Amino acid sequence: MSQYPYPVVPAPRFDVPAGQAVERARAFADTMTLRRTVRDFAPDPVPREVVDHALRAAATAPSGANVQPWRFVVITDPDRKRRLREAAEAEEREFYERRASPEWLEALAPLGTDWRKPFLEDAPTVIVVFEVHKGPHSPRPYYVKESVGIAVGFLLAALHQAGLATLTHTPSPMKFLNEVCERPQEERAYVVVPVGYPADAAMVPDITKKPLDETVIHL
Ligand SMILES: Cc1cc2nc3c(=O)[nH]c(=O)nc-3n(C[C@H](O)[C@H](O)[C@H](O)COP(=O)(O)O)c2cc1C
Repeated sequence: MSQYPYPVVPAPRFDVPAGQAVERARAFADTMTLRRTVRDFAPDPVPREVVDHALRAAATAPSGANVQPWRFVVITDPDRKRRLREAAEAEEREFYERRASPEWLEALAPLGTDWRKPFLEDAPTVIVVFEVHKGPHSPRPYYVKESVGIAVGFLLAALHQAGLATLTHTPSPMKFLNEVCERPQEERAYVVVPVGYPADAAMVPDITKKPLDETVIHL
């Protein structure tokens, strides 16, 4: 008997041998602790197969009503990356010089970011993620942002554990990405993810994560 009004299959088993769960959880957390946002990329190309498998992992994410409201545009063509950078820098210059509030600029200051976005050209692969807000089977997809956010989380984790560095980049506004990526209006850019290996001299801000007793509550 099943509560589902459609065909069912047995739930897949992902059995972790007895006594290994803690070690696996620890190893995964340790791996994730080494992820850092990188903004300077080496020119070395990223194997297409690695990106394909990472995207496959991302596409396994849960989504509201299983609508899977995401599109991943993978850009490796240098000319397309140059157009992406030029369009992004035009928007970002406007943001940093006119639209950003003093509080926002203050929050960004320790990260050393400004309107220049060389990583959009330097990273060998740039993945632009779109939210899909309409489709033949789902005129009103539910929980689009939540679903796409989870898929991007899976993507970042998959790329990281394959030894690749990423940057979670959110230009503001993002409308220009529809044109650069040739996506229709019902799709809205969610995030831009340059992917590659860190440049030899790449540095990252010396920041830390909050201790768990500040962010986790056990009841
Ligand atoms: C939703 C989101 C948007 C972000 N946007 C940008 C961005 O536009 N530019 C940038 O340089 N970093 C961006 N970041 C990266 C954050 O600055 C970075 O994750 C944070 O400083 C923590 O550093 P870590 O990723 O190395 O742990 C973004 C991160 C997230 C999650």
